[in-house]
Amino acid sequence: MKIAALTRLASYISRPSLASRTIVSHARMQSTVAPRRTPRVLPSFSLENKVCVVTGAARGLGNEFCNAFVQSGCTRLAIIDLKESEAKVAADELVQNACVNSDSKREDFQVIGVGCDVSSELSVQKAFEVVMDTFGRVDSVVASAGIVENYSAFDYPFDRIKRLYDINVHGAFFTAREAARSMIPQGGGSIVLVASMSASVVNIPQPQTPYNASKAAVRHMGSSLAVEWAKKGVRVNTLSPGYMLTKLTKTILAHDAELKKTWESLTPMGKMGEPEDLSGAIVFLASDASRFMTGTEVRVDGGYCVI
Ligand SMILES: NC(=O)c1ccc[n+]([C@@H]2O[C@H](COP(=O)([O-])OP(=O)(O)OC[C@H]3O[C@@H](n4cnc5c(N)ncnc54)[C@H](O)[C@@H]3O)[C@@H](O)[C@H]2O)c1
Repeated sequence: MKIAALTRLASYISRPSLASRTIVSHARMQSTVAPRRTPRVLPSFSLENKVCVVTGAARGLGNEFCNAFVQSGCTRLAIIDLKESEAKVAADELVQNACVNSDSKREDFQVIGVGCDVSSELSVQKAFEVVMDTFGRVDSVVASAGIVENYSAFDYPFDRIKRLYDINVHGAFFTAREAARSMIPQGGGSIVLVASMSASVVNIPQPQTPYNASKAAVRHMGSSLAVEWAKKGVRVNTLSPGYMLTKLTKTILAHDAELKKTWESLTPMGKMGEPEDLSGAIVFLASDASRFMTGTEVRVDGGYCVI
C-alpha cells in the first residue's frame, strides 16, 4: 500500500503540467525570474577566449572533443577533417546544438570547418593558414585524425601500412609542428595528440601491429616534442583512450558481433567507453588546468592496461 501510494505521488509530482504551474505561480509570487545558475567549476578549466582546433573532428572522438570545448566556454573553434563539406556540416551542427543546449545565440560563435588531409604537410600548413587568417591565434590543438585496420602481419599490403603511418604518425607530427609554429610567437599553447591504449598493450584477438606501433610512436612523439618546446610555453601531452564506441570501432564490430563481448570482458569496468567519457580528460589537457603538465600520457581505458 505504502509503495503504491508513493508511486502515485511520484508520478503526480513529475507531471509536466503541474511542474510548470508550480514554476509559474512561484515566479508570480516572487515577481522576478530566478537568475540562471552557471555550474561552479575551477576557472582554469574554462576554454573561454581560447581558440581551439581539432583534426578528425567531423565525427567520432574529435567531434565529441569539440562539444566538450564548447560546453567549457570555447566560442572560436576550427573543425578539421578530410572532406571540407563534412567539416562545414559538423561546424554548423556544433553551433546549432550549442544554441539549443544554452541561451547562446549563433552570432556568439565563430566555428569554421576546414578540409585537410593530415597526411600531407602542405595540406596541414594550408589549414593552419586558414585558422590563423580567421582567428589570428591558436591556443589548444588536438590531433585526433587517425585510422585503424586489422590485417595479420603477413597479409597487410605495404601501401596500406604506409598510408596508416602517413595519417597516424606523420599527420600528428605535421599538426603539432604547425600548431607550435603559431603558438610560440604568441607565448605558448597546449597540444594534445590522441594516441591509444594500444601504445602500451597488444590488443587481442584482432591483429593490428602497424596501428599499435603507430600509437606507440605518437605517445613518444608527444614526450619528445614536449621537451623540445617546453621552454617556449608549448605543452604537448597525449590522450590514450581504451575501446570507445565510435564509427571507427563500430565498423570493426559490424563484421564480428562476438568481438564486443571479448573487448568488454577484457576491460575491468566491463564495458566500452562512450565518446563523452573522454570529455573531462580532453578539457583538462587543453585548458590551463594542466598548465604544469607536459610530455605526459593520460589513459582513459576503463582499467584495460592495468591487468
Ligand atoms: N574509437 C576508439 O576506440 C579509439 C581508441 C583509441 C584511440 N582512438 C584514436 O582516436 C582517434 C579518433 O578515432 P575515432 O574513433 O574518432 O575515429 P573515427 O573513424 O570515428 O573518426 C576519425 C576522423 O578522422 C578523419 N580522418 C581520417 N583520415 C584523415 C586524414 N587523412 N585527414 C584528416 N582527417 C582524417 C575521418 O574522416 C574521421 O572524421 C584516432 O586517432 C584513433 O586511433 C580511437
